[in-house]
Amino acid sequence: MKTKILDVTELNPETMARVDEAAEILRNGGLVAFPTETVYGLGANALDPVAVKKIYEAKGRPSDNPMIVHISRASELSQLTPKMSVEILKLVDAFWPGPLTLVLPKQKEVPEEVTGGLPTVGIRMPDDPVALELIRKAGVPVASPSANLSGSPSPTRPEHVMEDLEGKIDVILRGGNCRIGIESTVLDMSTDVPTILRPGMIAPEDIQGILRKKVEMDPALLRREAWEDRSSVNLIQAPKSPGMKYTHYAPKASMTIFEGSRENVKKEIQRAKEKNENLGNKVGVILFEENDFVTAAQDFFARLRELDEEGADLILAGALSTNEAAGFAVMNRMMKAAGYHIVKV
Ligand code: TXA
Ligand code: MG
Repeated sequence: MKTKILDVTELNPETMARVDEAAEILRNGGLVAFPTETVYGLGANALDPVAVKKIYEAKGRPSDNPMIVHISRASELSQLTPKMSVEILKLVDAFWPGPLTLVLPKQKEVPEEVTGGLPTVGIRMPDDPVALELIRKAGVPVASPSANLSGSPSPTRPEHVMEDLEGKIDVILRGGNCRIGIESTVLDMSTDVPTILRPGMIAPEDIQGILRKKVEMDPALLRREAWEDRSSVNLIQAPKSPGMKYTHYAPKASMTIFEGSRENVKKEIQRAKEKNENLGNKVGVILFEENDFVTAAQDFFARLRELDEEGADLILAGALSTNEAAGFAVMNRMMKAAGYHIVKV
């Protein structure tokens, strides 16, 4: 398949016409990759099961992994969910458009292909002018996972999308680099207890501040040991968000995280690097400035891809502090990339 690559870096009448063209393709059952503030998405008409199935094919993604449905106006919510409580409206008001996905009971009209057979649907309004315009012009809700091949790092730069999906989808809207760089916070609002299923830049405290009630974390997010032997069926707690159970973001290199005082981490990474280089291994290092979570989020996935391209055999990374939500969120991705291989130093 020939993929049309349409530049939308600047917003002007000419690029808007390109968004129009992409919207028409979406409406007619095609696949369009588009920028959002978190990561690039791969969209299809969420109400068209045949179109949605094509996403699984293009990504090589298991079909029980549910997708987030993207909308451009809060008024589109009722088409997707019957649950429109005061709490939901408060969250929408506070965080949309933005990096928060709400998991809610689904309407019948939302196909099983989108939700992976679940009775709930994840919904989000992205904070990106191209994404919003695309969805608005398509006139349909847009089912969209991240625009990468299943198992490879999420795409935060347009070239990542082209590497993974050129030749497999109809259109790539080529914008700039993603402002946030890690995927949205996924919040389960389908039960009485609001629960974070995937951590992101919107923190539990932010949500608590709006709801004025306790927000829980999915226990699977807090139990590192549950992941230590992931071939085991005896996981202490299976994650509720199906996407969290697959191998994610796996770089080709094997990756180890060093956790401890800054000084020890630097020293031990250096030592391991020298040792492995002497053995003839190509070693990559990922060490962000302490507490600069914004940059860590923006660059982490891109660094993984870069190191893969350079042919690293081994990646040595410094752990981030998880006291703040942003650090916790990036560490969640880092631990997955490392297959939960963490060394205390
Ligand atoms: O920032 C983002 O959320 C990006 C952009 C493109 O919007 N999208 C994204 O989609 O990260 P994806 O498919 O890569 O991840 C969706 C996550 C998965 O972990 C999935 O299991 C979870 O959301 N999810 C979706 N619907 C769900 C549901 N009904 N119940 C529980 N988890 C759900
Ligand atoms: Mg993804």
